[in-house]
Amino acid sequence: MERVATAPAKAILFGEHAVLYGAPAIAVAVDLRAKVALNDADEWRLNGQPLDPSENPHLSSLIRWASAENRPQDIHVVSEIPIASGLGSSAALCASIGALLEGTPSSKERIARAAHSSEVEAQGGRASPVDTSTVTLGGAVVVSNDQWPGIEHCWDVDLSGPDGDRHWAIHSLSLSPQLKSIPLVIGSTGKGSSTAKMVASVAARMHESDFRASMDRLVTCAEDSIHLLLEGDPISIGEAMNRCHALLREIGVSSPEIEALIEAALPYSLGAKMTGAGGGGCILALTQDPDSCAHAIRCAGGEAFITTMGAEGVRIENFSENL
Ligand code: MEV
Repeated sequence: MERVATAPAKAILFGEHAVLYGAPAIAVAVDLRAKVALNDADEWRLNGQPLDPSENPHLSSLIRWASAENRPQDIHVVSEIPIASGLGSSAALCASIGALLEGTPSSKERIARAAHSSEVEAQGGRASPVDTSTVTLGGAVVVSNDQWPGIEHCWDVDLSGPDGDRHWAIHSLSLSPQLKSIPLVIGSTGKGSSTAKMVASVAARMHESDFRASMDRLVTCAEDSIHLLLEGDPISIGEAMNRCHALLREIGVSSPEIEALIEAALPYSLGAKMTGAGGGGCILALTQDPDSCAHAIRCAGGEAFITTMGAEGVRIENFSENL
């Protein structure tokens, strides 16, 4: 029998890249979803083709995890989430498959851990649990080195990677009703980029003292921004988004396409920044005028999605349900 699950896209509000170097990150689930259907099969297949793990690095570790207890599956994916765009499309895919193979939505920690292991493998050992925990838990998620006082702690993740040992605490944060009511416009450049390459390019420059100083400023910016987010004042949060974007530009992960969309969105926004690994992908604009902001992004050559923050995490669907 066909089994169906969906998972949301994620948008990192603060802390991308810096979360791999000691900063906290906060990400929200947004209401664009990937839908995955699984059917028992004789071999692993993806959208009708035999699945080649080397061409789908995000799935290879997940399939090894699944194969211990499951028959091969025919995986069919329909997604509203632009791929390779910093919105967690592969995390949503892994979480949906994990939820279906787990068979019970109550084991979110196991699902998120399996999905994170897949991302670690695909990203050459450098992957934080931000994307996978956000698409699994939904809502808003804070990932930090240590437990953050006053926020619900969910679980911890340890990783030994090429840059040493990392420890992260995963938290689930309730967004204030005021923040949830402010639209987040996502502008997609339409240019995909590889997270693995972007994180490797940052790691390769961490020995340069100027670069390291910029990263330290980015870490501080992310820390300050989390405090502002907890206080919940949209104007301060917008200003913090602008400051963080300037530092992400400084470490070289922005691109001309991203800058064009930021420039278009800013006159209609409380703040705007790139999101995810960069080098292409998407921007986020926090705005009280989403239609004008989306129109400006489209005029600048981007695709625009008007979303709200705090979507539900991965869930198993009745197979007849639509996205
Ligand atoms: C990717 O969505 C975010 C990065 O910080 C990488 C990671 O956290 O694994 C660039």
